[in-house]
Amino acid sequence: MRTPLIAGNWKMNKSHLEAIHFVEQLAHELAEHDFTRAEVVLCPPFTALRSVQTTTEDRHGSFGVGAQNMHPAAEGAFTGEVSPGMLKALRVKYVILGHSERRELFGETDGFVGEKVRAAFGADLVPILCCGETDAEREAGETEQKVARQVRAALGGLKPDVARNAVVAYEPIWAIGTGKTATPDDAQATISYIRGVLGELFSEEVAASIRILYGGSMKSGNAAALIGQPDIDGGLVGGASLEAAEFAAIVKAAK
Ligand code: PGA
Repeated sequence: MRTPLIAGNWKMNKSHLEAIHFVEQLAHELAEHDFTRAEVVLCPPFTALRSVQTTTEDRHGSFGVGAQNMHPAAEGAFTGEVSPGMLKALRVKYVILGHSERRELFGETDGFVGEKVRAAFGADLVPILCCGETDAEREAGETEQKVARQVRAALGGLKPDVARNAVVAYEPIWAIGTGKTATPDDAQATISYIRGVLGELFSEEVAASIRILYGGSMKSGNAAALIGQPDIDGGLVGGASLEAAEFAAIVKAAK
């Protein structure tokens, strides 16, 4: 049984004070039983991680805290970067890795993302590995090729018992922040294909235990149809995670 996961990717939004206010509002919107539907994870900017961690830890239910990125090295001369151990010390559990904005705007390669995935597992963090195709790649019929390459590069070579804890997020780039969403059938088809790739890399049994999320303009109005698909185990939510009532409605749409 895969527990659904709804993760809010705040991107570069909310100061630590706004983050504290958001947690208060979200806790008000969610009842204790909502946490049995899905694991609820908040991924604020680095500057709000500490505030979100301390304001969520004594709440009913179980919020998880995730970072949006990290450097693979343990420490050193990497100005502006944050290490896996630093996140772990803040009791961060998840880390989004290989988001298309990191890949497209900051030049992160498959190889670098793979290093980060290994470093995350090495520090006992759970990577949320993102993959997805551009509009042009989709038009050219290259979706499967692209996501297979990204997933193989990031997870290939991991021990199956390590890999089974990974989370994958399929985020078609043309759907991110655009209001265009993949249809539930299309998202299911690609996510089922990704599960097949995981089966080839590890085993059917390991592939069946890895949670695969959909991301790209998920909102309260389309979440139930997407998460209702057999292979879609939740969502990585950007814009719609910034408003507490809207994000809570997505959590309530989970199985
Ligand atoms: P969006 O972003 O929900 O705003 O499309 C999703 C993401 O980039 O993770």
